[in-house]
Amino acid sequence: MNRISQGRATLGGKLSAVLVAAGSSVGLGNIWRFPYVVGENGGGAFLAIYVCCVALLGLPIMLAEFTVGRASHRNAVGAFRALDRRWSFLGYNGVLTAFLILGFYFVVAGWTAEYLVHSLTGDLAHLSSADEYATVFDEFIRSPWRPILYTGLFVLATHAVIAMGVQQGIERSAKLLMPLLLGVLVVLAIHSLLMPGSGEGLRFLFRPDFSKVTPSTILVALGQAFFSLSIGLGTMVTYASYFKPDTNLRHTALHVTLLDTAVALLAGIVIFPAVFSVGIEPSSGPSLVFITLPSIFNGMPWSMVWSSVFFLLLVIAALTSTISLHEVVTVYLHEEWHLSRRRAAWTTTLATLLLGALASLSLGVLGGCTIFGENLFDSLDFLTANILLPVGGFFTCIFVGWKLDRRILRAQLTNDEALRFRIYGVLSLLLRYFCPILLLLVFLDNLGVF
Ligand code: PFF
Repeated sequence: MNRISQGRATLGGKLSAVLVAAGSSVGLGNIWRFPYVVGENGGGAFLAIYVCCVALLGLPIMLAEFTVGRASHRNAVGAFRALDRRWSFLGYNGVLTAFLILGFYFVVAGWTAEYLVHSLTGDLAHLSSADEYATVFDEFIRSPWRPILYTGLFVLATHAVIAMGVQQGIERSAKLLMPLLLGVLVVLAIHSLLMPGSGEGLRFLFRPDFSKVTPSTILVALGQAFFSLSIGLGTMVTYASYFKPDTNLRHTALHVTLLDTAVALLAGIVIFPAVFSVGIEPSSGPSLVFITLPSIFNGMPWSMVWSSVFFLLLVIAALTSTISLHEVVTVYLHEEWHLSRRRAAWTTTLATLLLGALASLSLGVLGGCTIFGENLFDSLDFLTANILLPVGGFFTCIFVGWKLDRRILRAQLTNDEALRFRIYGVLSLLLRYFCPILLLLVFLDNLGVF
């Protein structure tokens, strides 16, 4: 054990590594963002491209990040610096991206908390048509103070878990959530499939129409895969720095990827049959889930109970993701700036609270302040998912594929030759050639070079 890693927390058993990494991956990205980007990008063809991105880029890059984290036992910046000084910029890119994602993620997390409260009070059950749900949602996000209040509550809840420390806070909340979330999603999916007209929704989701694919579709699918898997920004580097020496990195990455994709698909199966059955536009954007879900619950017996349970789970799923993002920034400030962990956590909390408040206001009273024609909320979403994460992923491939000592990669993937790793050659090819070339082509294509 090296000097820095002494006294650092480690995660418990094998299951914990999977649950904690899945806790970061599974979140609003699967249940809020995935359905709306599928809806905006034409359905089935987007889904097919998304699944390819997850398998061919997501999985290898997650393994690369696990390798960097566990080989160095440091925060994102310290990890790259420990392995090669010149590559610490990649860690800085990650910390910045985590901070910017928190800026809009906290806002959406706040919306889920408000919807939980409305579910518990029965307010959502009074409405009947999708139009009414759309109006209520619109009024809510434009209000100058209500979304900020809930964003603030969410930031403080995240702070509380971070303050409890890695093992207690992060591990425990993840263990409880995953099985519950999957169970409720399966029940909701069955209910959606039984709705009249559900076939059209399924066709939209699963029947690919490649005539709808443009260069930007591929970039958005890539960005969504990176966002959903929490890769390209050092979150998995940070979490893997807490993994034990005998954690099987390959199994962990595979299980996290499968779980994350299963939750996204289930969310799609819940949302799209209902979208077509109730007559909502699949391309309604970020409001899609907040209009569709209450409509689904309304048609169910004990709608209040279902709605409350679902939004509670969504709140917890969002929380396990905000924790991971917060942790990236906090542990960086703690280890690199030598702030106490408490101070580091408070600094992150206050800075993200400010950014979150601005992002929330940008949907209402500050709507006039735009960056390249987009409000702050949409700009943060676009900049992080579609640009910073793929850039982070590209350089991670170059670093692990070309710069990192082969022996370190091998030792991490085989736990010092205790495990066999038959597809090492394939992984190496993906990281060295396939992923970076594809990422570069997609970028150039979107810049209009071809
Ligand atoms: N993967 C999370 C989700 O799908 O909601 C969002 C996220 C968490 C992105 C952590 C990036 C990250 F580092």
